[in-house]
Amino acid sequence: MTTIGFIGSGNIGSQLARLAVGRGYDVVMSNSRGPETLQDLVTELGDHATAGTVAEAASAGDIVVVTIPLHAIDTVPVEPLAGKVVIDTNNYYPQRDGQIAELDDESTTTSEMLQRHLPASHVVKAFNHIAAADLTTQGTPSGSEGRRALIVAGDDADAKKTVADLIDEFGFDAVDIGRLSEGWRIQRDTPGYVKPYAAIDLENAVANAKRYRDM
Ligand SMILES: NC(=O)c1ccc[n+]([C@@H]2O[C@H](COP(=O)([O-])OP(=O)(O)OC[C@H]3O[C@@H](n4cnc5c(N)ncnc54)[C@H](OP(=O)(O)O)[C@@H]3O)[C@@H](O)[C@H]2O)c1
Repeated sequence: MTTIGFIGSGNIGSQLARLAVGRGYDVVMSNSRGPETLQDLVTELGDHATAGTVAEAASAGDIVVVTIPLHAIDTVPVEPLAGKVVIDTNNYYPQRDGQIAELDDESTTTSEMLQRHLPASHVVKAFNHIAAADLTTQGTPSGSEGRRALIVAGDDADAKKTVADLIDEFGFDAVDIGRLSEGWRIQRDTPGYVKPYAAIDLENAVANAKRYRDM
């Protein structure tokens, strides 16, 4: 039995948890305010769900999803995530996160920042370019005509395969866009961002992405 830990239980965390419990995974939810604030959510999620502290969700998860505002990633616990697949859904919104110089000059990417914070973890970028509501409404069985596709990016092939398989289970085709450093190709305002593209169209959108400085 695989447990998915959630650091962040807002729009995206709660939606991914709904998909996960629907497919028989156990989930441990956490947020910044503490497990007592997550009782309504875990009641809704049912018997496969519990709430814990951030450290408990990080320790319990075989796979851990980090889905919090980007400005908070340095608070993510490091040691309990060592050796684990960590899914990064995060995006950079300066009005929310403040200006981050190395993202403004595009010398790194959001997921590389999380990987740098978690050097012993296998960070995989995923679920950053789909609106939260669409996660539970747009999934279709494998092989469906026009099935929506979602990207994976990562520096560890096995971790990427694990997340690609999860994406498929959740109802979407997975498109591998390469290493974490390629994650900018699906950042805010790129052609593939939040568009309900099937795999071929998502691949084209990712290939045609431009850097902010070239837009
Ligand atoms: N919303 C979307 O459609 C969407 C789509 C794709 C990607 N994203 C990205 O995914 C990330 C999450 O987005 P969201 O819309 O789910 O955000 P959200 O609804 O605001 O939820 C954020 C969650 O993170 C928790 N959190 C904040 N700081 C934390 C910390 N230091 N430690 C642990 N938990 C913390 C919050 O807990 P408290 O409430 O207790 O503070 C809350 O549960 C963002 O980077 C966002 O840009 C969002």
